[in-house]
Amino acid sequence: MIERIELATPDRRAGSKLNLEGLTKTFGAGAEAVQALAPTDIAVTEGEFLAIVGPSGCGKTTLLNIVAGFETPSGGCAVLDGRPIEGPGSERGVVFQQGALFNWMSVLENVAFGPRACGVAPDAARESAQAMLEKVGLGGFVENYPYQLSGGMQQRVGIARALVNDPAILLMDEPFAALDQQTRELLQEEVRGMWRETGKTVLWITHSIEEALFLASHIVVMTARPGRVKAAFRCRFSESPDLLVASTPEFTAAKREILGLLRSESEAAQRQESMI
Ligand SMILES: Nc1ncnc2c1ncn2[C@@H]1O[C@H](COP(=O)(O)OP(=O)(O)OP(=O)(O)O)[C@@H](O)[C@H]1O
Ligand SMILES: [Mg+2]
Repeated sequence: MIERIELATPDRRAGSKLNLEGLTKTFGAGAEAVQALAPTDIAVTEGEFLAIVGPSGCGKTTLLNIVAGFETPSGGCAVLDGRPIEGPGSERGVVFQQGALFNWMSVLENVAFGPRACGVAPDAARESAQAMLEKVGLGGFVENYPYQLSGGMQQRVGIARALVNDPAILLMDEPFAALDQQTRELLQEEVRGMWRETGKTVLWITHSIEEALFLASHIVVMTARPGRVKAAFRCRFSESPDLLVASTPEFTAAKREILGLLRSESEAAQRQESMI
């Protein structure tokens, strides 16, 4: 159910939605410099769900922040829909691990904020926010404030906020990492359904190999810092209608294969940390 592939072949690049070519990032300069990303090459085709796994500190968030336009690369380029990324934009919906909601705004206002910022009239913005909140199961909580919601509900608001502008690509940085296991599994099932329904292109960072296998059409395993692509896979578990696909022997075998690749990188990352 998983097969090793090359992610940045000329064919994939030619038809890519998102093309990362020789992307590098170094923070700071001189003796203090930290190279977060080594030349990284990834081509993502329209409608793919690309999960990125890698040891802590290997540059996953850095990569996502470059695609989001929050960071500039030190070298190489990131191109979305044929245009170099030069800053944030509403065609990219971003969801963070937690805490990115405006606590002083109601849930409805939080979600309507994006369309309003894009110039949509207040009534129309509220209407699309309401519709999106209903889609993520929060139709009854629109007047609440984020602090009145559970962690899982807050992440749903984050997802609604990212989707309401109908972005060309969704960028998710460990969106479910802070949630309990049950909530996490429930939301994973919902995201799986949503992805099938909308066919959105997704870049999804996670520490969980199970989550990557369950959700993604493609998986990238990154090396320890400076991060680059160690291996990439085409993955078909997300196509299975079986929500219990994670308990099959094929899933376990795939998990072992990826875990094997990741383990040596995590050990290297740990050695780096203990040297700091
Ligand atoms: N703004 C910054 N200034 C200096 N160094 C930074 C900055 N952002 C990230 N780094 C460094 O770059 C490296 C990669 O960080 P990054 O947050 O991208 O890793 P990550 O793979 O997302 O880790 P985690 O899995 O723990 O979230 C780390 O060594 C980090 O300390
Ligand atoms: Mg991170």
